[in-house]
Amino acid sequence: MPIHFDESKKIFKLDTKSSTYAFLVYNGGFLVHLYYGAKLPDNNLKHLMYRGWFDSLSPYAEGVDDPRFAVDINPMEYSTNGAGDFRISACAVRGRDGNTVTDLRYVSHKITKGKPKLPGLPATFAKENEAETLEIETVDEVTGVKVFLFYTVFEDYGVMTRSVRAENGGKFPVELEQLYSACIDFPAMDMDMVHLYGKWAKENTTARHPLQHGIQAIRSKRGMTGPNHNPFLALVDHTATEETGNAYGVNLVYSGNFSIEVEVDTRGCPRVLAGIDPESFRWRLEPGESFVSPEAVMVYSEHGLGGMSRTFHHFYLDHLMRSEWTKKKRPLLINSWEAAFFDFDGDKLVEFAREAKELGIEMLVMDDGWFGNRFDDHRALGDWTVNEEKLGGTLGELTDRVNALGIKFGIWYEPEMINPDSDLYRAHPDWAICAPGRKKSLSRHQCVLDMTRQDVRDHIFHQMESVLSKANIAYIKWDCNRHISEAASLELPPERQGEFFHRYVLGVYDLMDRITTAFPHILLENCSSGGGRFDAGMMYYSPQIWASDNTDAIERLTIQFGASLCYPIAAIGAHVSANPRTDIVTRGNVAMCGTFGYELDPRKLTPEEKEIVKKQVRDYHKYYDLIRFGDFYRITSPTEDPFVCDWEFVSRDKNEVLFTRVIMRRPENLYQHQRLRGLDPDKLYTDEDTGEVYSGALLMHAGLDLSGTPGWRWLQDGESMVKHFSAC
Ligand code: GLA
Repeated sequence: MPIHFDESKKIFKLDTKSSTYAFLVYNGGFLVHLYYGAKLPDNNLKHLMYRGWFDSLSPYAEGVDDPRFAVDINPMEYSTNGAGDFRISACAVRGRDGNTVTDLRYVSHKITKGKPKLPGLPATFAKENEAETLEIETVDEVTGVKVFLFYTVFEDYGVMTRSVRAENGGKFPVELEQLYSACIDFPAMDMDMVHLYGKWAKENTTARHPLQHGIQAIRSKRGMTGPNHNPFLALVDHTATEETGNAYGVNLVYSGNFSIEVEVDTRGCPRVLAGIDPESFRWRLEPGESFVSPEAVMVYSEHGLGGMSRTFHHFYLDHLMRSEWTKKKRPLLINSWEAAFFDFDGDKLVEFAREAKELGIEMLVMDDGWFGNRFDDHRALGDWTVNEEKLGGTLGELTDRVNALGIKFGIWYEPEMINPDSDLYRAHPDWAICAPGRKKSLSRHQCVLDMTRQDVRDHIFHQMESVLSKANIAYIKWDCNRHISEAASLELPPERQGEFFHRYVLGVYDLMDRITTAFPHILLENCSSGGGRFDAGMMYYSPQIWASDNTDAIERLTIQFGASLCYPIAAIGAHVSANPRTDIVTRGNVAMCGTFGYELDPRKLTPEEKEIVKKQVRDYHKYYDLIRFGDFYRITSPTEDPFVCDWEFVSRDKNEVLFTRVIMRRPENLYQHQRLRGLDPDKLYTDEDTGEVYSGALLMHAGLDLSGTPGWRWLQDGESMVKHFSAC
């Protein structure tokens, strides 16, 4: 039983194969956090609650026997606002009296098999025998608001998920002002904060710095998660490395405005909150109504950042990404964007497909420009009717021509957007988001559709359905190229405008759910000006996300390595483009550390490049399972080492190994050994290039001599090499 309640001590203990999480019901029904970390055999954990002594400036609650107990000093399981805990609060509810004092106390709990669904939200899933869920009911006596805390334990993974449901059990309306999905209080520890920041063409860049006293936060107020901060944060020991030390990761399964905050209090104890960004959120609950928060996924690993990442990867492949394409072999695609931009017609696409077929590529994706009057990015978003004049026939005819060559066909959409120069806008100007009395700001010449509205979603769905059902479409790239300003919905009354942003995200999820349910065999790839919505919420629907419009192989290393901190390699969209800074071999090797595909005009490849592409296609198939379902090891980091980037995939059974080295900038003296990781020390591995046999112990402890490879030479800037080993 991974979840255990000790009735006499009132302690909840949640165990996975590698971690323990514990909290206590303390007198007066306070939920006091006790521990999160490496697995503990003990049940006697109560003493862990005291993290400081009485402080005259920290109030203690009335009616509590223990004079040492103050909610401001002790680690709290789900902190509330205004009732004596002056640190950041997970929950604040405004009642009919107008104040936001909130004091949640334990009422009851239940433990069930499996995991309940979160209505309207993407979330991790489990069969009855795969997880266990603890549901704690708490109540604020004055407002009557009940807050249910959900904890699902995935014992075999070292993972716990959390979410919260607030229910108005009182007689009067209330307003939720803050409802974080998770709150975690840590004891005083020297920890670093690791997170992902960026911008367009520089997404998911890793940052690591020591926690400071005070509040540090990452967040989005952009309506989407955005490339600026990813809804992922890790706290690690100062001394933690890729493979050693305590690492705690938290990731939101959410695609909207979020906030992950850490407050280090005066005692040096960090508190982490993760959930919907409270600054852009208010939710009115009438009596009897409920609100469900998005899910937070929590991973603990005692094997450093690498251990944490591998846990996220396997867990998401098994329990988040629900598409049938998650584990099924995906067709190797070529995308038309960088090859043609808006300048294509049906014949050109058929030529691309013919060339692609010669190279072994399996699918052609027609990017932006196939619909309405879309000859550039100034117009036609919202008019999802096929431009048959441009394509030289119907979409069905074009897909038939491409399919006849043995190539599948995919298309691009940007369903949430509308250009002022579009038939849709001319018919429904009020469908574009804008606050009354204000001017609409444009971004890439476009506005955002009010996805909170059912009529808007229905219209877009029917347009898409009509196109998708008339042609043999195997793939959709779902783009989203601007963020939301002047946010308001004309459909919502003034007292509910605070609900706009979350309702927008629910609307997007609803449309994605309808499309993926109506067309379950279509492979969906998410995109947002590159990796601007690279989050676990999107991954629930789309098993791959275009990681960046930046296709320079060297800069991609930082982007893909950052994304891999939390997200599986199988989800990281990566293509070989015509970007000339590195040769096509290196571009292929880097894209191989992702979904792999092409984004170039295949007619322009030289005969020599075509032979290289054919080899890459063979490698794509050869290493498909190893790369997607194996263990990923970041050996050197492109954000720390300016010269060399090394990584490695090891199959789960430790029988196969793929090592890759990219020289970002050649140093004066480049050491030609590298120690491999994650092998079985007792197994013997054959070097595919030389036929030499080495033990796993030798490859891990003494290292691999790269200069022993036939044809080896000093690699220059931007060059790369790959080594493959199989256990014999
Ligand atoms: C965004 C995407 C690109 C491409 C264009 C089309 O920028 O990131 O890959 O699809 O839109 O307009």
